Amino acid sequence: MSKVIGVLTSGGDAPGMNAVVRAIVRCGLSKGHKILGVDRGYEGLMNNEIEEMKSHSVSDVIGRGGTILQSARSKQFMTEEGVMQAVNVIKANSMDALIVIGGDGSFKGARELAKKGINVIGIPGTIDLDIDCTDYTIGFDTAVNTAMEAIEKIRDTSSSHNRCSIVEVMGRNAGYIALWCSISGGAEITLIPEKGEPDFKDIANQVAENKNMGKKHELIIVAEGIGKTAELAEYIENETGITTRATILGYLQRGGRPTAIDRIHGSMMGSKAIDLIDSGVYNRIVALKNGDYVDIEINEALNMKKDINEEMYRVAKALAY
Ligand code: F6P
Repeated sequence: MSKVIGVLTSGGDAPGMNAVVRAIVRCGLSKGHKILGVDRGYEGLMNNEIEEMKSHSVSDVIGRGGTILQSARSKQFMTEEGVMQAVNVIKANSMDALIVIGGDGSFKGARELAKKGINVIGIPGTIDLDIDCTDYTIGFDTAVNTAMEAIEKIRDTSSSHNRCSIVEVMGRNAGYIALWCSISGGAEITLIPEKGEPDFKDIANQVAENKNMGKKHELIIVAEGIGKTAELAEYIENETGITTRATILGYLQRGGRPTAIDRIHGSMMGSKAIDLIDSGVYNRIVALKNGDYVDIEINEALNMKKDINEEMYRVAKALAY
């Protein structure tokens, strides 16, 4: 039976979101469904910014960063009136289901819609990798690769000048981007929120000790959830006499051409969402678990709390020895 399926991207954009949208459109059309693209996330949904998508609507987008549907963080949608407004728009457009591509906050929004009887499917799209129900979130690989390239450039100049460099990467309250950047970028010290507040004195001692051991440069990766990057740089320089520079990578990590990993997982997850809707299965989050694309009930998915990978953290420390 042909269904009307809405799709939106919400929260912070992530490279690979376009691959997801493309898969939803093309796989949905191939099964005879009608696809409605909602612009600007929940904000656009409340304002009925909706257009039917055809195959050509997603031509040439798989390699593009950002999201062709655009995104927003909507305060109004977080109110009861906002949710009801969205419900009315969904009904007025005769949508049988709405696919939400985004992070935790976006899924909480989807859960509110589900409570009002709307059929929803969530697809994890965030560079932060902070959603527990899935081993992968679209955008993470591209963000890590972008950050790693930037970190390598900082290492070059740091080595030339025998400096200590502190690089802050994104991740909101999660340390995954930082941990992966540390291992792939060869950091001496990794500071992530999951490990609590860092002790500046210990860090300065370690930097001094590393220099005595003959290290040419010092690279410290700080997760956004720790912050205090400029303060730490000043402290280390004052304590050790080693010139220390801080760099906050910021939004460059959110843009750029998605890697193959993001395009493949994005395409597979988009297709999985269509399969679920096709079989009448709703209110699920699509996830990657142990190499398989699976789906988890939305409340269950939102109740899980992601911890850091302890083994990776241990290895990151050992590699800095
Ligand atoms: O969730 C993705 C992310 O880039 C986080 O890493 C960061 O904390 C946040 O979004 C920034 O949000 P905004 O785009 O609203 O400034």
